Amino acid sequence: MVKRMPREMTGAELKSMLKSSINFKSLGGIKCEELELPTEEKQWFFDCKVGMFVHWGLYSVLGHGEWAKFNEKIPDEEYNALAEDFGSEEFHPREWVDLAKDFGARYMVMVTRHHDGFALWDSPGSYHDFTSKRTGLHRDYVKEYVEACREAGMRTGLYYSLMDWRFPGYFDPVGKRRNAELMKKEVYAQVEELCRDYCPDILWYDGAWLAHQGSDTSSAWFWEPDKLNKLARKYRPELLINPRSGWEGDFYCDEGSHEITGKIIPVPWEKNMCICSGCSWGWMENDPVSDFNWLIQMMVNVVCRGGNWLVNIGPDKKGKVSEEIRERIHEVGEWLRKYGTSIYNTAAGPYEPVDNVYGSTFCKNTVYLHILDEKKFRNLYLPYTENEIKEARFFNGEEISMSKTEKGIKLLLPEKKGEQSKVPDTILVLKMNQSIEQKRERIYFTGKE
Ligand code: GLC
Repeated sequence: MVKRMPREMTGAELKSMLKSSINFKSLGGIKCEELELPTEEKQWFFDCKVGMFVHWGLYSVLGHGEWAKFNEKIPDEEYNALAEDFGSEEFHPREWVDLAKDFGARYMVMVTRHHDGFALWDSPGSYHDFTSKRTGLHRDYVKEYVEACREAGMRTGLYYSLMDWRFPGYFDPVGKRRNAELMKKEVYAQVEELCRDYCPDILWYDGAWLAHQGSDTSSAWFWEPDKLNKLARKYRPELLINPRSGWEGDFYCDEGSHEITGKIIPVPWEKNMCICSGCSWGWMENDPVSDFNWLIQMMVNVVCRGGNWLVNIGPDKKGKVSEEIRERIHEVGEWLRKYGTSIYNTAAGPYEPVDNVYGSTFCKNTVYLHILDEKKFRNLYLPYTENEIKEARFFNGEEISMSKTEKGIKLLLPEKKGEQSKVPDTILVLKMNQSIEQKRERIYFTGKE
């Protein structure tokens, strides 16, 4: 399925994206035994599977992407003035939480401060009081969002960018060390505020790389992420933290709309991408919404390889989400309301995926075979595993015959005609003779930078 690209991504922004397009972002983060969480404490996150990401900030007023200030060299004064045109009386972040529920998301991650430094809460630690509470409509959007999540029983994530372009020290942390230290002071104060006052379930960092160079990991000398994250955990001992502060983190991140192929990845990981083209995380007028089938297949490809799927929306300056995006959100949610048992609370396997043909998830003694291409699947044999298939059915209960051969197991799918063959994912439910054991490995990806 082809995606349309309405905007070219260049320079440091493109570099930031490409750092992650192939594989996991921020590999080789520093280790810190005290910060390691036992797998049981992360289980809720793996069970959630689907999350919704929200990028909303002053860049949403312009609609040129969240890197607009840097890319277009917009002077501070001009950019800061956007705060007066940001938000609306009629909007409440509860609307996003409702959308996330409609999407079938079980957790959310909201941008609380992006690279421009504008904080969406009442932040005493903000450099020059650059917050939504001190400008425009004087609102604490993080508070409103967190409360709405709690009311809805939605797990709550906060995105926070360490990078703040307002500091010349960010671009020259050695030469302008004093200024860089001021930026670091702001980071420590704000991370403490976020964890102490809003008690999130997930702290989702971004932008630790200094001067847009190297990687999040190679900037650990400056941020001291072990110290920073110990501070965060002081207020929330079971807080889940992504790897982008330079500490190895609780799960790995794969970013962008590139397709996911290959084997099951036996470590905790999350793919984050946009529901639209992916050319901008912030609002952009007429940003094409991704195709329904493409989105479902993406989710299936991620979950069948052991990942979580975090999907971003970019509300407009008033906080509103377009009709077209809301429709797609609803469609994906409808699919999940129908087939969610094959996604939520499952693990990847026991069959290794065959790219663009099928993958599998399981829960106890039930395997869900997600078939993306029935035609190709008909020519394949399922390999034998430690567990024996007792019976095979379509998701609607219709039985499927099997033939056990030397080459493997053949599931004899009837030919489908017309519309029915256009579904993005045909799900088969296999009952096994016993519960399947989940293999989770402790792998540390050191990675090249
Ligand atoms: C990239 C982009 C940044 C965006 C983030 C989301 O790092 O540069 O703007 O917020 O991805 O994960």
